Amino acid sequence: MKAAVYYENGGPEVLRYEDVADPTCGPRNVVIKVAAVSIEGGDTLNRFGGPLVTRPHIVGYQASGTVVQVGSEVTTHKLGDRVATVNGWGSHAELREVPARNAWAVPDGLDLAAASIIPVTFGTAHECLFDAGQLKAGDTVLVQAGASGVGIAAIQLAKAAGATVIATASSDDRLAKLKAYGLDHGINYKTHAVPAEVMRLTDNKGAAVVVDSVGGSTLQGSVDSLGYRGRLASVGAAGREPMKVDVGSLMGGNRTLRGVFLGAEIMTDRVHDMIAGLFTQAAAGSIKLVIDKTFPLSEAAAAHAYIESRAAVGRVLLIP
Ligand SMILES: NC(=O)c1ccc[n+]([C@@H]2O[C@H](COP(=O)([O-])OP(=O)(O)OC[C@H]3O[C@@H](n4cnc5c(N)ncnc54)[C@H](OP(=O)(O)O)[C@@H]3O)[C@@H](O)[C@H]2O)c1
Repeated sequence: MKAAVYYENGGPEVLRYEDVADPTCGPRNVVIKVAAVSIEGGDTLNRFGGPLVTRPHIVGYQASGTVVQVGSEVTTHKLGDRVATVNGWGSHAELREVPARNAWAVPDGLDLAAASIIPVTFGTAHECLFDAGQLKAGDTVLVQAGASGVGIAAIQLAKAAGATVIATASSDDRLAKLKAYGLDHGINYKTHAVPAEVMRLTDNKGAAVVVDSVGGSTLQGSVDSLGYRGRLASVGAAGREPMKVDVGSLMGGNRTLRGVFLGAEIMTDRVHDMIAGLFTQAAAGSIKLVIDKTFPLSEAAAAHAYIESRAAVGRVLLIP
């Protein structure tokens, strides 16, 4: 099969389009013919500095497609099923093997390519808002990097839950595009101090919940934007800086800082079923799967470079 691979970590230019061996199918796994790869923020971070679990390494968490092989112990899937899959690596390829448990059925009528976005992107946003954040109707939520994949998902899910939604981005243009997904107030963090703006917008109450996928120096601004008993979900390091936060700044306001890692719980019934519910919502049209741009798999390097230019609002897909 063809795959986008790399032999060493680095910038988008390390990606090469090459022939590699087809995957085999373990007894509890399925192999899919990939229809679309949803490039995750974690894929660009792994390419930049993550472990090369295979060599050459095929990066990538998420891809949708059609089941072409079924492991001998698998009773839940059959040939031809339309699924969206998650695994630790291997999405950037024509074929991928995943545990059958990590292949969710894509409902009839839901576009298979768009469905590739759902499990990690929306599942993570849901965990941040409702498990770590305990969000309820009437709360105010701050979503850092609102134009990111996880950010757009969090904006939609929070709005649907009856929250007031504030989000940050690096330009007014990016913020303007988020209004269509439920954004109430945008903060351009290049021109405004985020905590001061959150306090202004909330009559000094602060946010009940903050979703922070940027980390680094942004994380302290997230703590400082929390209201009394506010909950902060630290879920990523898109800023590629060391995490820095003054833990003492949590104490006075009885604030909570919670780490979130979807991968640690994705095999549990709770998270598996939560993600299945997101497919139902997408099929019903109550959440929008936002695709910024698609590239052929052979142009994976250009797609990664485009993401790193920070022009994308929503997901960039690769099509084998
Ligand atoms: N823990 C988990 O379970 C989990 C699950 C999913 C994702 N994540 C993590 O969450 C983060 C975001 O993922 P994603 O898929 O939403 O990412 P994405 O769609 O690629 O978006 C990342 C956004 O971060 C902002 N950003 C701020 N500083 C940046 C920098 N120095 N370089 C690049 N972008 C920067 C950019 O928006 P602006 O230009 O508007 O600032 C960019 O659009 C990643 O670190 C990912 O690994 C973690």
